[in-house]
Amino acid sequence: MKTLLLPSGSPIPILGQGTWYMGEDPMQKQREIDALRLGMDLGMTLIDTAEMYAEGGAEEVVGAAIAGRRDEVFLVSKVYPHNADRRGVQAACERSLRRLGVDCIDLYLLHWRGAVPLDETLTAFESLKQAGKIRDFGVSNFDRADMQEAAEARGGEQIAVDQVLYNLTKRGIEWALRPWCREQGIPVMAYSPLESTPADQRRMLGNPRLQAIAQRHNASPAQIALAWLLRQENLIAIPKAVAPEHIRQNRAALDIVLTDQDLAEIDIAFPPPRRDTPLDMR
Ligand SMILES: NC(=O)c1ccc[n+]([C@@H]2O[C@H](COP(=O)([O-])OP(=O)(O)OC[C@H]3O[C@@H](n4cnc5c(N)ncnc54)[C@H](OP(=O)(O)O)[C@@H]3O)[C@@H](O)[C@H]2O)c1
Repeated sequence: MKTLLLPSGSPIPILGQGTWYMGEDPMQKQREIDALRLGMDLGMTLIDTAEMYAEGGAEEVVGAAIAGRRDEVFLVSKVYPHNADRRGVQAACERSLRRLGVDCIDLYLLHWRGAVPLDETLTAFESLKQAGKIRDFGVSNFDRADMQEAAEARGGEQIAVDQVLYNLTKRGIEWALRPWCREQGIPVMAYSPLESTPADQRRMLGNPRLQAIAQRHNASPAQIALAWLLRQENLIAIPKAVAPEHIRQNRAALDIVLTDQDLAEIDIAFPPPRRDTPLDMR
């Protein structure tokens, strides 16, 4: 698996696995565990989760999937904004560690910006880092202005990533956030790379131009959507998949090389932003 370096110098795989909606249905638990293990077997060892997902249920699925394989994985989890004060961060992290069955989370993120001052959250993250409970920390759903403010806050120079919604149909970050992150050397972690709601996904993957490009590569539209993200510098993508064929396809997307013609056609089908727009979030 290809990696990139976080600002701390730690390597992180550029393609991982999401876990939103895992852990909600006990009948699906084994299927979800098997899915994450298959992904790990294929090299997608970055696993993204959050205390929010199934209110801890997704972290328990991850814990079961990585049991005995901790050394192979790069674990990302997130704290709720309402738990992001000094004591709350500490307690939330301990709960996540317990559910995941590990001593340390590789990358711990503030899930989105809430009412707690950034200084307080970032200082709490620093303490967790010093205590060895997390290796790196970052943020999620932060737009450019939030990032600027966070970078200037105490501890802000250690922000390792911004995890944001980014895919072919949601390219708004290319206007301001992405160039800013590039200048600062902060990687972007693209969530919902395939669009998470069925209607949005149908609209994106059903695009005729995308389908034509996919045909040329003997690939699926989803693979082209992922390949388009994965060719970008300093970018990490975290598709979520439970179906084994989806997991295999997602891994194989890493090997697709898009041509200049493909990229030009993609820009016609899914135009880049022409003005600044607020960050998309879901
Ligand atoms: N920080 C945040 O606020 C935030 C917000 C949203 C998501 N996230 C993270 O990002 C991860 C990914 O985002 P997401 O789950 O919203 O959406 P996504 O990964 O873009 O899409 C997931 C959907 O795509 C399907 N899929 C996966 N691979 C496919 C393929 N090769 N071909 C066709 N369909 C495929 C999955 O089906 P099956 O499962 O049936 O295989 C699932 O229905 C989340 O799981 C979560 O970890 C973070």
